[in-house]
Amino acid sequence: MITVWPYPHVAAHRGGGSLAPENTLAAIDVGARHGHKMIEFDAKLAQDGQIFLLHDDTLDRTSNGWGVAGDLPWEKLEQLDAGNWYSAAFKGERLPLLAEVAERCKQHGLMANIEIKPTLGVEDETGRLVALAARLLWQGQTDPLLSSFSVAALAAAQRAVPELPRGLLLDAWHDNWRELTEQLACVSLHINHNALTAERVKVLKDAGLRILVYTVNHPERARLLLNWGVDCICTDRIDLIGPDFSNG
Ligand code: G3P
Ligand code: MG
Repeated sequence: MITVWPYPHVAAHRGGGSLAPENTLAAIDVGARHGHKMIEFDAKLAQDGQIFLLHDDTLDRTSNGWGVAGDLPWEKLEQLDAGNWYSAAFKGERLPLLAEVAERCKQHGLMANIEIKPTLGVEDETGRLVALAARLLWQGQTDPLLSSFSVAALAAAQRAVPELPRGLLLDAWHDNWRELTEQLACVSLHINHNALTAERVKVLKDAGLRILVYTVNHPERARLLLNWGVDCICTDRIDLIGPDFSNG
């Protein structure tokens, strides 16, 4: 299924794992400072279609705003603080636009896994706009790997920009993985590592899929997964599972 897989063995979850406020430019800087070569982050739409980074549907946990983020236009979202909830040292950190993230990745030479995290009801639009923006913003760099739990978002991304690589996200083992990854022409399956066994890894690899696992925070577990044949470990412990981490 896949021909080229340019991505490294380790990806820093949400930019800087647990060492920085997630999905911020500061997090990306921290990931890069630890030598990482790839980051994962979560992208969604503001009410006016601007693409920015946030994990949750709501603003409450990781900013000083509240309510559904996708209900607000960017001019409101850009005023929020997205760092102080984590620590005072990051006060003043903003929610970043995807365009700013692309620029920062370029500066650091980081590859990207863009997780499309749509607000309920705008799955198609989010998949379409993120894919179109990603193609434009990452021009001349390694293609960003698009992934999503939302089949609708991935299908829209596929229709809009078929040439960008896609990975299906699963939070548990689902027997329809083959049907879905074929339908979406995915290069990879991104799965909760607890759902995997050595046998399942083999079945997935035999089907021609690459495998990214999340969120693996113990080096021993990461080593085992790599030995099974997993291709990429997405981690919060970017300090313990570094860029040169191997199964040796
Ligand atoms: O993309 C891997 C992982 O980030 C998926 O789960 O909830 O951390 O976005 P979540
Ligand atoms: Mg994510």
